[in-house]
Amino acid sequence: MADDDRSGRFDHLLAGTVRDQLGGSPYGAWRSVRDADAVQLSFGFPFPESFPNDELAAATAAVLEREGDRVMQYGGGEYADALSDFVADRASDRGIDLESRTVSLTNGATDGLATVCDAFLEPGDTVVVGAPTFMGALTVFRSYGVELESVPVDESGLDVAALEDRLASMRERGLATPTMVYVVPNFQNPTGATLPEDRRERLVALAEEYDFVVLEDDAYGELRYDGDPVPPLAALDERGRVVRVGTFSKTIGPGVRTGWVIADEELEEPLKIASAGGTNTFTQSVVARYAEDGRYDANVRDLREAYGERRDEALASLSRHMPADADWTDPDGGFFVWITLPEGIDAERLLETAAEEGVVYLPGSMFYPEEGGENCLRISFSYVDSEAFDRGIEALGRAVRGAMADQ
Ligand SMILES: Cc1ncc(COP(=O)(O)O)c(C=O)c1O
Repeated sequence: MADDDRSGRFDHLLAGTVRDQLGGSPYGAWRSVRDADAVQLSFGFPFPESFPNDELAAATAAVLEREGDRVMQYGGGEYADALSDFVADRASDRGIDLESRTVSLTNGATDGLATVCDAFLEPGDTVVVGAPTFMGALTVFRSYGVELESVPVDESGLDVAALEDRLASMRERGLATPTMVYVVPNFQNPTGATLPEDRRERLVALAEEYDFVVLEDDAYGELRYDGDPVPPLAALDERGRVVRVGTFSKTIGPGVRTGWVIADEELEEPLKIASAGGTNTFTQSVVARYAEDGRYDANVRDLREAYGERRDEALASLSRHMPADADWTDPDGGFFVWITLPEGIDAERLLETAAEEGVVYLPGSMFYPEEGGENCLRISFSYVDSEAFDRGIEALGRAVRGAMADQ
């Protein structure tokens, strides 16, 4: 994963928190696989045909015609405001009480995470994350110079009982308890696991008991293909401990760079202070216009169907081509399957052979704050079509069998 085309000319000027991540960051890792002439299963990208480009073009024209200069001015016009209402209504539909909470629009979920971190974190604070967890969030947390404590993720997501033991032991030893616990409750990136309601309730209770904030990142919550939705953590929280982040990246397109933070109303001002420079009110206006008249909901319904089929075909490909000793998850939604290779096979070392065979993926170790996941990898079924996906998994099967034979 080393970034060997760097001269290091600026290293002495860079912030230590950034310098320490060079080469191992998602950006560094993506650079090393993006140009490989192989099936791309590394990226959690939506498939290109999913983008509602014609409708967005029409919405852009309509917004400019109706709001004229106001849409281009600082703060935007009525449509920009309408998007907050749209997000608030959908949150209410999922059981979140908006009486005591406010919606702040952001430039995507990652910007939402960074805004919340800006408001809460100082160097030396402790943030608890699942192991494994979304690597983009790890990059954000690391850039604040915080201590990352990890709690295992099992087939039901974050192990909240293990978190409780850790918190009790921190308190017993007189250590500072965490400022924040980060969780991706639905179809977690990278494992696809969904946190059951009892764990969600316990996590919210622990936040009150140990005085921390739960950062709920629900980037995939709308993309459920099987089973019933589980209430968001924010819907189970009566004390305003949960700060919830969402995004239109997966349900409209990452290019709109529009997401949101839903937080206790007392946090509105801190979040405003933290998000200096403002957000993209022009895109927010376009998205609000596009979402009118149920178009967004219709798009989400179509996406669920399309991704659900891709998920089914992905699982069928895995059963066809992977050796019996490999194991993988069976997600109810989202974009990812997490594969565990036989013990002793290093997914990072295997990547080069896999690329030669015709597939690239992200090695599991990238999703761990410390050591871990060496024999695991993440694949995404969201981006390539099912024919290419099948070819990719066939190539992965060959690469893994080769590595097993060499052991
Ligand atoms: C859990 C999670 N959060 C956030 C994001 C990023 O969202 P955005 O593109 O809105 O910044 C992703 C996408 O990769 C994700 O998997």
